[in-house]
Amino acid sequence: MLELFKTNKNHFIGVDFGTSSIKVVELSYTDQQTRLENYGFVDLNLASNNNGLKSASLEQALNESLKKLIARMGIKPVSTYVSIPGFSGLVTIIDLPDMPDDELAKAIQFEAHKYIPSALDEIAMSWEIIERKTDGVKLQDQDNFVAKLKAKNDPKGRTNGKIKVLLVAAPKKDIEHCDRLVSGAGLDVSAIELETFSIARSLVGDDGGTFLIVDIGSRATNIVLVEKSVIQVNRNIDAGGDEITSAIADGMNIARARAEIFKKGDKDMLNSNETAIIIPVLDLIVGELRRIIAAYKEKNREARIDSLIISGGTSKMKGIEEYFTRSLGEKVRMGNPWRGIVVSNEVAPFTKELGSSFSVALGLALRGIDDYKRK
Ligand SMILES: Nc1ncnc2c1ncn2[C@@H]1O[C@H](COP(=O)(O)OP(=O)(O)OP(=O)(O)O)[C@@H](O)[C@H]1O
Ligand SMILES: [Mg+2]
Repeated sequence: MLELFKTNKNHFIGVDFGTSSIKVVELSYTDQQTRLENYGFVDLNLASNNNGLKSASLEQALNESLKKLIARMGIKPVSTYVSIPGFSGLVTIIDLPDMPDDELAKAIQFEAHKYIPSALDEIAMSWEIIERKTDGVKLQDQDNFVAKLKAKNDPKGRTNGKIKVLLVAAPKKDIEHCDRLVSGAGLDVSAIELETFSIARSLVGDDGGTFLIVDIGSRATNIVLVEKSVIQVNRNIDAGGDEITSAIADGMNIARARAEIFKKGDKDMLNSNETAIIIPVLDLIVGELRRIIAAYKEKNREARIDSLIISGGTSKMKGIEEYFTRSLGEKVRMGNPWRGIVVSNEVAPFTKELGSSFSVALGLALRGIDDYKRK
């Protein structure tokens, strides 16, 4: 039925259900150009206050809010990509000895058990071999006859090599919940992914090099280490901008609503001696970033991080770039998920203002374009 309305096969929608707002973006791809067609968001705090939605179930409230947003944006039901929060799932790299593919599937299931406490049939899992080395020789470059010979001599096709597998897993119930929310609003879900991938796509994409992304939302912080476009490390911290507001409220002895206004204001509360406030959650994030950087450098002695990229609504906080630069001694920059997207002159000031709070939604719509280009 939906196919009948699907006129714009080169249009893609990304939907990000954040804790503080739902963000929707529509991109199109024509003449090798990615163009912004439409964007919108709904503040869930306002929605819940104005409409008394707090009393309804969360699922209903989100569904209603998304429906209204879609109607307001005048969006047609084209291919839609949706994310589930990074903390709902798992992205990890596992190292295994090389083995034939049928044994590998079993070994990965076994390994997955170590990371995922739930029953495996409640978890959706996918994996991909990202590196395969035969005695230090990558199988891809195997005109190396010694490696080939070794593999041949082993009756099971085993080599003495190692493989790196990217394992991705998420609870089926979270995926189904997300599917219901979006389908219920009349959109046609093409794929659901962990937002970790969306962020990496919109902020790093095909850029070579190593980048450490920190996306600070309102409830959660997602940290992603991307090396040559592959996610190497992912950590989620169950805290974000909301805790910053609480720290300001406590530090200044004011109500949360006022603290939120201060937080978004022009005063630098992170670096200047007179106005700085201790914000424990930022120290927690810096601590985690330090651990990830140290472990990465320990593993690869020559490796270096090209830059730390700050993303999410909280990246707009005055002085945050300086705070991370000072605390980490690494090169820090603001994430720009709009790079490479054609935006009309009238809209450009608005997208600039939205900044990297749209990293997830844009990364999702960009996946639609990637899929389309591959077809
Ligand atoms: N100018 C600003 N200065 C400081 N903080 C800001 C600013 N603008 C927005 N924020 C904060 O950013 C947070 C919202 O960011 P974002 O939209 O990325 O979160 P979310 O995706 O809804 O939440 P989550 O990812 O945790 O589910 C809120 O805590 C908000 O107070
Ligand atoms: Mg978010």
